[in-house]
Amino acid sequence: MLFRKPAPTSDLDLDHLPRHVAIIMDGNGRWAKRRHVPRGAGHAAGAETLRRIATCARDLGIPYLTLYAFSTENWKRPEEEVAGIMDLLERYLRETLRDMEKNRFHMAFLGDLTPLSPELRALCAQVEETSRVYTSYQMNICFNYGGRDEIVRAARSFAADCLAGKRDPASLTEADFSGYLYTAGIPDPDLIIRPSGEQRLSNFLLWQAAYAEFYTTDIYWPDFKEQDFLDAIRAFQRRSRRFGGT
Ligand code: IPE
Ligand code: IPE
Ligand code: MG
Repeated sequence: MLFRKPAPTSDLDLDHLPRHVAIIMDGNGRWAKRRHVPRGAGHAAGAETLRRIATCARDLGIPYLTLYAFSTENWKRPEEEVAGIMDLLERYLRETLRDMEKNRFHMAFLGDLTPLSPELRALCAQVEETSRVYTSYQMNICFNYGGRDEIVRAARSFAADCLAGKRDPASLTEADFSGYLYTAGIPDPDLIIRPSGEQRLSNFLLWQAAYAEFYTTDIYWPDFKEQDFLDAIRAFQRRSRRFGGT
């Protein structure tokens, strides 16, 4: 029988967990290359990691988890790879619907879903709507998401509200502007994790990342385990956050 030891959390300060953790799920392709399997197998393995880490975050009591799944730049990839990712998303959404009562999390989508097929969009909307009842844990999937695109869209909506006489440009505050982003109502991430060794944001949560702690590890996302997630939280708890103060 397979037996997996629960990850020890005794050295974690459960009273000082990050409220919002965001992850750039990177390294699927290199993981696949190393194993001499197609890149799509790497994405499938990455989806498995997503399920496990989402459960781990929920069980720890972290209220918000945001996952970067597909960027506005990822359309540059071969058609076959993009199609494979769309298929994986569909499979993941169907499973989410099936397991909703067991998982008990609200799933939301950040990004522009309009280029997706009507079936996939309907499925996203169904998952988002039916999971709305679970309010203690929210998982955000960033799909066709780009930080610059998000800011430009927010600027457009704000400008439209000004033209409609609903807003006054001179009185715009940072908090008001945040309300025009995909993340309206969601606290900024406290911790951003990027596996696979890259040390860049790749257009992820540009506005929201202002004071996030950044954690990187060389582990490829498909190999990223609960223990690695806890290591990131431990590292976060050792950081001193000053927000520009002393
Ligand atoms: C992340 O893994 C998944 C997506 C961007 C969709 P990659 O596919 O970028 O993996 P690497 O960076 O090529 O290893
Ligand atoms: C960022 O990874 C996007 C996602 C993980 C979804 P990329 O692999 O696309 O980023 P770059 O190209 O290495 O910057
Ligand atoms: Mg990558």
